Amino acid sequence: MKLTTLDDWLSGVGASTDPIRGRRVFVRADLNVPLEAGKIVDDTRLRASLGTVKRLCAAGARVILASHLGRPRGERVASLSLAPIAPRLAELSGLPVAFAPDSVGKAVAARANALAEGEVLLLENLRFHPGETANEPEFSRSLASLADLYVNDAFGTAHRAHASTAGMVEHVSSAAAGDLMLNEIRNLNAIVEPERPLLCLLGGAKVSDKLGVLRNLAERADLLAIGGAMAYTFLAARNEAVGDSLVEAQRIDDARALIDRAEADRCKLLLPTDHVVSQSLDGTGETKIVQTIPDGWRGVDIGPETAARYADAARTARTIFWNGPMGIFEVEPFSKGTQEVAQAVAQSPATSVVGGGDSLAAVNRLGIGDRIGHLSTGGGASLEFVQGLRLPGLAALEH
Ligand code: 3PG
Repeated sequence: MKLTTLDDWLSGVGASTDPIRGRRVFVRADLNVPLEAGKIVDDTRLRASLGTVKRLCAAGARVILASHLGRPRGERVASLSLAPIAPRLAELSGLPVAFAPDSVGKAVAARANALAEGEVLLLENLRFHPGETANEPEFSRSLASLADLYVNDAFGTAHRAHASTAGMVEHVSSAAAGDLMLNEIRNLNAIVEPERPLLCLLGGAKVSDKLGVLRNLAERADLLAIGGAMAYTFLAARNEAVGDSLVEAQRIDDARALIDRAEADRCKLLLPTDHVVSQSLDGTGETKIVQTIPDGWRGVDIGPETAARYADAARTARTIFWNGPMGIFEVEPFSKGTQEVAQAVAQSPATSVVGGGDSLAAVNRLGIGDRIGHLSTGGGASLEFVQGLRLPGLAALEH
């Protein structure tokens, strides 16, 4: 994959025709952070996005920063405004960051044109316009008209063919991948071409959300360990008792096919052998640890024996990819399985990559992020990348 980088541009800095100084640079970042009542709950993605912006500002660029936030479906949704992000970016970076209440139009263009070197203008949520997710050529052209150069640093959104991640690239004179993007590619390539054994730990609620990735990773991984509610659909496929656990009845055949296929591909499929069960999901009711889930009880976390088996697999793996919690980890009594897996990944000498908001939250809550090889800013994007799929945001940048 041949991509233009900031280094390529910066190597021309200081020349008689400086490629960056005074130029308006449109930076597509992924600033899609969790907000509660207008307050930023986790600013990991903001911190991760600053390197590229700071380098460009230091080189004299006038930076137009753009992102989506949530899924407003083409409408202005006040709770999904990027307005609270601008002051936090300014605080974290020490740069002047102004906010434009829209992402296209004359007023925004005037604000972009008035930027001084080293200043940043954060645009309003791109998805307030339906043209963004529809990848409309007119919206792409409007975005491109704001700037001279384009940088895509939004790895978390690289699996979307949207106007700001793909469509506008053909309307700019030069396009580069930002530093965050390159760092993600470098680290995730370790999963695509792994040192073996490769252990993939996948959790989450629904088999239907992860069927494609499960099939693909069953072909690539040496061990595939499954947790979260989706494990119960697999147990149902093996005719094991699942009580009242969440099971996707219409996916049981797919799960059965996957079990057979993993065997044929010599991928060892690890499923829970014990469970934390409860009758209520809010953590207030009785919980017990069982090997067979009784009627009237729901599985809410992997049990200690399962956590120990998965931790053992992590200890002997040479490469680990983990996406998705092992249980309802945001409810304290149901969080131990996810915590044990997180600790095991951190303690393993393997090259490790963790992606997905919930897994990252678990790692951050335990304060062990610095012991994981790579914390990906992408959830869906990292899942697609490790399957070897072509991400539209990267394809658009390729020479
Ligand atoms: C994410 O959080 O995974 C990215 O920001 C992409 O968001 P999306 O799934 O709404 O496109």
